[in-house]
Amino acid sequence: MTGDRPAPGTSSTGGTAAVPGTLAELTTFHLGGPLPDLTVAHTAEDLEDFGRAHPLDPSAHGDPAVLFIGGGSNILAGDSGFAGPACLVATRGIQESAHGTRTLVTAQAGEVWDEFVAWTLDHGLSGLEALSGIPGTVGAAPVQNIGAYGCEVAELIESVRVFDRVAGQAQRLPAERLQFSYRNSLLKRAAAEFGEPRYIVLEVCFALERGRESAPVRYGQLAAELEVAIGQTADTAAVRTAVLHLRASKGMVLDPADHDTWSAGSFFTNPIVARDFVLPDGAPSYPVHDPLTGVVDPQVQKTSAAWLIDHAGFAKGYGLPRADGGPPAASLSTKHTLALTNRGAARTADLLELARRIQAGVHERFGIVLVPEPNLVGCSLDSEG
Ligand code: EPU
Repeated sequence: MTGDRPAPGTSSTGGTAAVPGTLAELTTFHLGGPLPDLTVAHTAEDLEDFGRAHPLDPSAHGDPAVLFIGGGSNILAGDSGFAGPACLVATRGIQESAHGTRTLVTAQAGEVWDEFVAWTLDHGLSGLEALSGIPGTVGAAPVQNIGAYGCEVAELIESVRVFDRVAGQAQRLPAERLQFSYRNSLLKRAAAEFGEPRYIVLEVCFALERGRESAPVRYGQLAAELEVAIGQTADTAAVRTAVLHLRASKGMVLDPADHDTWSAGSFFTNPIVARDFVLPDGAPSYPVHDPLTGVVDPQVQKTSAAWLIDHAGFAKGYGLPRADGGPPAASLSTKHTLALTNRGAARTADLLELARRIQAGVHERFGIVLVPEPNLVGCSLDSEG
């Protein structure tokens, strides 16, 4: 199983380019060392074969034995790379079927997320428009329950077909079993429990509405951009254009020429704290809801990591001073304080040092510990590694 490989977050164009040798070639941070044992999975069967060849022993809690790579947009990898077997998910294919008033669309895990979103809108299906422009693959979307502009992908997922590396077989998990919450799921929790993925996502089935009217707009910035009131709908293509515009203004659309996008998007999740935790004056407070039922959890509130970072003294563009007085190798994006970025010549250690400094500064100032969102591969925020 070898073959062509698209650049991070972009689509495969066919051809026979060499299998990449480093994580830097496969991640949107453009960081990470060698990958000496990389398999490219082109079909769901390839993925299952990889899973069968590399079962997960639930009692072993050592270093991760295997690594899965999709669009590389949520990985910060160490300079020593990953010595074990790695699998690049490059499976493609989209299928549509009518299901009552809704349409079920099943996409293979390696489909490029934003191309898939565009495909659904082009085919007259609504629901995913607010999730336009997110880097990465379809298979990664349910793992961290990607979300943006008032929508979480969990709301549109019918089921996910996975290969369970513990049971050694494929199974379909309906949305109700996936334990979706803000930037979390059963798939992510299981990976955290074992230190590596238990479930390999094979395909994701979405339930979408037929039509070109968007879901009700729920995010203030998006409503303002579209000039509609919160709760109103708009044309799905107009929502996509507005979201892409907003994301680009925050450096959240990949552009190889713009170092503000050499990142993993938001580096930290927005902290969820107790409802009675007294937030600093002016910090945003958002309700936290169950993405499947919409029910708000009255015990907790979510605040803004970007706001906390800004108000702890780390402005946009902040970077650690260099001994030689040169420009920082890693810095906050000049467009958004929540994105840590590689300015072109950074090492992973530079990103880690910046992340630790931000984490410590926010903790010291506000007593809140920011939790990193990307998968840290062969590196850690805990030590000088
Ligand atoms: N803010 C600042 N400084 C900044 C930027 C933002 O203080 O430089 C404050 C402002 O108060 C602003 C608030 O942060 O109103 C929220 O900012 P924004 O609307 O950009 O959203 P976010 O909470 O920072 C989240 C997601 C993004 C998603 C946007 C839009 C997380 C961790 N991040 O960011 O997702 O695109 O909302 O919905 O939940 C990602 O996960 O990688 C990601 C980009």
